[in-house]
Amino acid sequence: MYAKISGTGGYLPERIMSNQELAATVDTSDEWITERTGIRQRHLAAENQTTSDLATMAARQAIEAAGVSANDIDLIIIATTTPDLVFPSTACLVQAKLEITNGCPAFDVQAVCSGFVYALSIANNFIRAGQARCALVIGAETLSRITDWTDRSNCILWGDGAGAVILTATETPGIIATHLHADGRHKDLLHVSGGVSAGGEGAHVMKMEGNAVFRVAVKTLDAIVDETLAANGMQKSDVDWLVPHQANIRIIQATAKKLGMSMDNVVVTVDKHANTSAASVPLALDTAVRDGRIKTGDVVLMEAFGGGFTWGSVLMKWA
Ligand code: COA
Repeated sequence: MYAKISGTGGYLPERIMSNQELAATVDTSDEWITERTGIRQRHLAAENQTTSDLATMAARQAIEAAGVSANDIDLIIIATTTPDLVFPSTACLVQAKLEITNGCPAFDVQAVCSGFVYALSIANNFIRAGQARCALVIGAETLSRITDWTDRSNCILWGDGAGAVILTATETPGIIATHLHADGRHKDLLHVSGGVSAGGEGAHVMKMEGNAVFRVAVKTLDAIVDETLAANGMQKSDVDWLVPHQANIRIIQATAKKLGMSMDNVVVTVDKHANTSAASVPLALDTAVRDGRIKTGDVVLMEAFGGGFTWGSVLMKWA
């Protein structure tokens, strides 16, 4: 038994904040942001919009694209770093919003920007083990709620959004392999300033040593590409599409170079929505599926790197 993606969906909140608009509030410029990151704008959730709202919108699209009904879903996993509440999980909130009443398991996964790759890997294993046949996997974030809008080296990077897929059981892959990793020694390079058990004064916001994170990300993503290809007996030239985590165009270009791949075969959406953490890979995938770039039989490599540090890949044949 294997799993394949049968439908994708994406949602970006209506409100767009351009680099120019941001430059009116912090000491930066459109030129600086575009040159260093490739980001031109980000979407921001409305005051009354939560992560589960964004996730539900993306899920509805994926359900429709897959041609299933909500109550066919027998597993819900949401990757998020910005859950609506401490509990219930965002996955349970989405289950209720989608009016899924069949009692299917629903839970969140926290692996920051690698969250979607982690969640997809877990859902793949559920299906391969025969414990699910139709999984809803979502990456959704309202990072604007944990952004320090006065820190110019940081606030330029983030945005809100959600991406979703329906993963169904199939006799041929589909998902060929997933590779997941973490190294918990680098908290100080990328973390949120407070939380529940550790407490912390005032608003909890993201803190990052951008330069150091950049270097580790490039090195780590190089290594996961090598590992994924070697473990699955594939050559660089076997990969038709790279769907990378959308953090920074320069990190994406470095991975494409490692693969010897033209940027024409790399899905880039970071310019439109900035880094949406767990939502970034499924948003990019949804874009390339809907505009017809990814076609049946294409080999797709998805990869991500994020806080933790966490990183991973999903290798699949589009079926
Ligand atoms: N606008 C203008 N100048 C800025 C700026 C901004 N938004 N942010 C920082 N600078 C300045 C710095 O103050 C510094 O000035 P100085 O040389 O006078 O001290 C200079 O630009 C260079 O700063 P540096 O931090 O070395 O820049 P950088 O080239 O590393 O770019 C990031 C900064 C954040 C864009 C880059 O490090 C990055 O993208 N890192 C990876 C972050 C990431 O993707 N994290 C998520 C991983 S999932």
